[in-house]
Parts: sequence; C-alpha cells; structure tokens
Amino acid sequence: MTTLDSLITVHDFERRARELLPVGVHDFFAGGAGDEITLAESRAAFGRWHFRPRILVDVSGTTTRTTVLGHEVALPVLIAPFSVPHLAHPDGVRAIARAAAAVGTTACLSTLSDASPRQVAAAVPDGSHWYQAYWFGRDTGLTRALFELAAEAGFKAIALTVDTPRLSRRERDLRNRWAPPADMVVPSLLEASGGRFGNPAEMVARLTDTMTWQDLDDIVSWSPLPVVAKGILTAEDARLAVEHGVAAVVVSNHGGRQLDEVPASIDALPEVVEAVAGRVEVLLDSGVRRGSDVVKALALGARAVLIGRPTLWGLACGGQAGVERVLELLQIEVELCLALLGVTSPAEVTRAHVQPARR
Ligand SMILES: Cc1cc2nc3c(=O)[nH]c(=O)nc-3n(C[C@H](O)[C@H](O)[C@H](O)COP(=O)(O)O)c2cc1C
Repeated sequence: MTTLDSLITVHDFERRARELLPVGVHDFFAGGAGDEITLAESRAAFGRWHFRPRILVDVSGTTTRTTVLGHEVALPVLIAPFSVPHLAHPDGVRAIARAAAAVGTTACLSTLSDASPRQVAAAVPDGSHWYQAYWFGRDTGLTRALFELAAEAGFKAIALTVDTPRLSRRERDLRNRWAPPADMVVPSLLEASGGRFGNPAEMVARLTDTMTWQDLDDIVSWSPLPVVAKGILTAEDARLAVEHGVAAVVVSNHGGRQLDEVPASIDALPEVVEAVAGRVEVLLDSGVRRGSDVVKALALGARAVLIGRPTLWGLACGGQAGVERVLELLQIEVELCLALLGVTSPAEVTRAHVQPARR
C-alpha cells in the first residue's frame, strides 16, 4: 500500500495514479490532441531554460506568497479547471476546493464538474474560487445564467475558455472507445437551465463555434465578475484580449489537448508578456510539474501558474489529502528554488534569473 508520504514529487503521483485509474479514465486525463507533440513539448520546453542564481543574499525570510487579481495566495500556483474530476475520486471538485482552501490558493471549477458553484461554496465557504465558462452562443441565456450562479456563490472570477471553437480529437479516447458516463448529471447546467438539462452531451451540443471578439466585448460588459481569457498563445490575441477588457490572460495550450503542434506555453509566454505590457496579469498553464517550472514562468513574466493534471493525480491518489500534498510539494519546491536563486518572494523574480540553456 502506497502512502501519500512516500510520494515526494508530482512525477511520483503521476506514476501512482496510472496504476490506480482504469485505463480509459487515465488516458482521458493524461492524453492530448493528435500526435501529442504539444503535450510532450510542454514539458520539454521548461528544460530549455536554465537559472541564473545570485548568491550571498539573506534568504532566511523567503515566502511563496503573492497575489492574483488582488487576492492573496499562499503560493503562485492555482488549480486549473478540468472536467469530470469525480472520475478520479468520488469527492470530486469539492475535494479540490477543500484542498485549495487548506493550502491557501484558488481553485477554478470547470463547468463540467460534479458540483455547482452554489454547492462548492456551501461545502467550502472559506475558499477562493473561480468558475470556468464556455460560450453557448448569442441566443441563449445559458452563458449568462452560469456567470450569475458563480457570482451569487461568491466566486471571484470567470475563466472564459477561448481556445475551444471545436473540441479536439483525442485519439486515445477514440481508441479506448471512452466517453464520459452517458447518465452523468452536471449540477451547474441543471441549475442554469432551470432543470431543463444537465447532461454533458446536451451541453456539448449547445457549444457553438461562432464566438468572436465582439462577443467578448458583450460578455465583459454584462459579466458580474472579472473575465480571464484562458487559452491565449500569441501577442496579437493577447493585445486584443486586453483591448476587449479582460482582467487577465492565461497563456495555455489547454494541456496539449486542443490544437496540436502549437508551442509550449512557456515558449509563448515572453511574446504575450511583452504585448500585454503590464496592463493585466498574465498567468500560464500546461506542463507545470515542478517548483522550478513555476519559478521559470515567474521569471518570464507570469504572475502565477495553474496546474491541471497534477491536481488530478493528487485526487486519484488520495482525494483532498492527495491534492493538498501535491500543492504542498510544489510549495516546498518553489520556496527552495526561490531561496537558491537568491530571492525572498515571487515578486523579486525577474527575467535576469533565467537564460536559454546553452548545450
Ligand atoms: C482531463 C482534463 C479536462 C479538462 N477540462 C477542461 C475544461 O473543462 N475546461 C477548460 O477550460 N480546460 C480544461 N482542461 C485544461 C486545463 O484547464 C488546463 O489548461 C491544462 O490541464 C493545463 O495543463 P496540465 O494538465 O499540463 O497542467 C482540461 C484538462 C484535463 C487534463
């Protein structure tokens, strides 16, 4: 029997989760789009940056604390939204939200979760939550109803997924003939649709591929919460997103699950940071597995990162305690990396702390 204490890195959690999960569920979580080139690249790219540590600095008071959208977090690592978390562990998104609150960070709840914002807020009243939303087209109040549910539940921001005009082909799922359980009910959808539907297939059928910058303008104008654009990979789109009023952007290739053969997020980060020019906060996800990855993202201009699969592996290995352990391990690694780099907080990390690896 493996205890959580014996898992000392995110990689250990990943290996253990692979042993524990049914193949179809594991592959749905782990897999990417197409040939999974971006999936692999998202890890490899972090290795192409090396640190430039400074020495003889008093790092006795090193902290991992920072703020994201004005809210304090214990470490610059938030939890990314992902669908069907309850397939990793029956406690699902509530366990994630509890773990995030226990460690002191923000968890972003996916629309396709096993609890609605109201239910998550009731289960974790002291938590800091964001809600991930899709666009359901111009003729429906569904998008707006979901935003309002999140606002009423005290959520702090909406992460609007902007890289899914279509859902990609995930070939592992096709080979495994795997799909989310057909009888699954999504509480958010049930509440937002006034009880008309709650099934993921019915939600996917309502997703449209027509969302444009004009729609983003409208969304920002009626949204009761700050809108964070999740899924930006170019300077051009980062600039437009800021002009259209978003509160932050997430540089993300969706964990390699949407368009294959796009760059690793860490490689897209510098051009986005330059284009945004400090007007809004820039976050990053995809491929973060180590505290050193987090610090490299900070050095290249990210305010914080989000973790997707590491959360799922934690959940699969130990529910809430597993997710807490994953966050704590990353916090230990971030703190150590900051101290060895000669800085005492995330805010002190600069571009001068990294350089392209010379081989
Ligand atoms: C199983 C799974 C389901 C996901 N579902 C969603 C989703 O519903 N909405 C969304 O915006 N992103 C979704 N994502 C993408 C994550 O939010 C995030 O961008 C990605 O997982 C980050 O990469 P990482 O897993 O390498 O950390 C999902 C990712 C995974 C692994």
